[in-house]
Amino acid sequence: MKQLVRKAVFPIAGLGTRFLPATKASAKEMLPVVDKPLIQYAVEEAYAAGIRHMIFVTGRTKRSVEDHFDTAYELETELEAAGKKELLNVARSIAPDDMVCTYVRQSRALGLGHAVLCAKELVGQEPFAVLLADDLMVGEPSVTAQLVAQFNALQSSIVAVQDVPLEHTKRYGIVSGAVVADDLVEMTAIVEKPEPAKAPSTLAVAGRYVLSGNIFNELEALPRGVGGEIQLTDGIANLLRKEKVYAYRYAGKRYDCGSKLGFLQATVDLGEHHHEVGAEFSDWLSNRS
Ligand code: G1P
Repeated sequence: MKQLVRKAVFPIAGLGTRFLPATKASAKEMLPVVDKPLIQYAVEEAYAAGIRHMIFVTGRTKRSVEDHFDTAYELETELEAAGKKELLNVARSIAPDDMVCTYVRQSRALGLGHAVLCAKELVGQEPFAVLLADDLMVGEPSVTAQLVAQFNALQSSIVAVQDVPLEHTKRYGIVSGAVVADDLVEMTAIVEKPEPAKAPSTLAVAGRYVLSGNIFNELEALPRGVGGEIQLTDGIANLLRKEKVYAYRYAGKRYDCGSKLGFLQATVDLGEHHHEVGAEFSDWLSNRS
């Protein structure tokens, strides 16, 4: 029987030190690009892929994420009383009625693989998506929807990849393998953040994955890798010795909102396309001295 992707895991326990002082007491995932927090872009992307169960792997200072996806009775009552229908819809649309959110704590910062492992009991043995909210993805259909479509056909784990300059390989998981169809690679290797001289290719993992439930066995068996961390990449490297794993060159654009430059680029690009202020902002950008 074909397996469906019904759940998404959002690892959000990271400290966000690259955005200090903004992230000293608040979650980096709540930093807004124009008017929407990063985590909401990721959740909407998963929702657009048909996923309804969102699993957040959280840590201290992340309470605001839980509040964000909860009903805000006081706010809704006030907007309703004031007849502000449009804003009321905005507030309500954050958590549609058919969406379920669950939260699990990652109490120690032992890496991305460990964060995903924290979701094991909530996910069970079924395939699931992983979305790193730092990577803001713009695509139509959504990048996760593209991965899910590929998963539906292949019934195997699959990660989103893009080409990067050789000098950037040490920022990413890098994959290699055989091209089996348009934009599709059957993976034979994956390594975490290799130096350019050691990189097997320049095909880099963007923060979107659909993984088989068997990844949990691999993550559980892993020793701590680079920096004492349990790496998701190492878990995938072991998984692909036992079952097929694919890499898919997604269509769309990625903004690395874990970096200040990427965050600013996202703000400018999405600002220019914003339904309310886009035209005026664009005009201002091109005419300012
Ligand atoms: C993580 C992964 C890496 C991946 C990257 C994508 O690294 O470990 O394999 O390429 O996300 O953004 P991080 O950026 O969290 O250091």
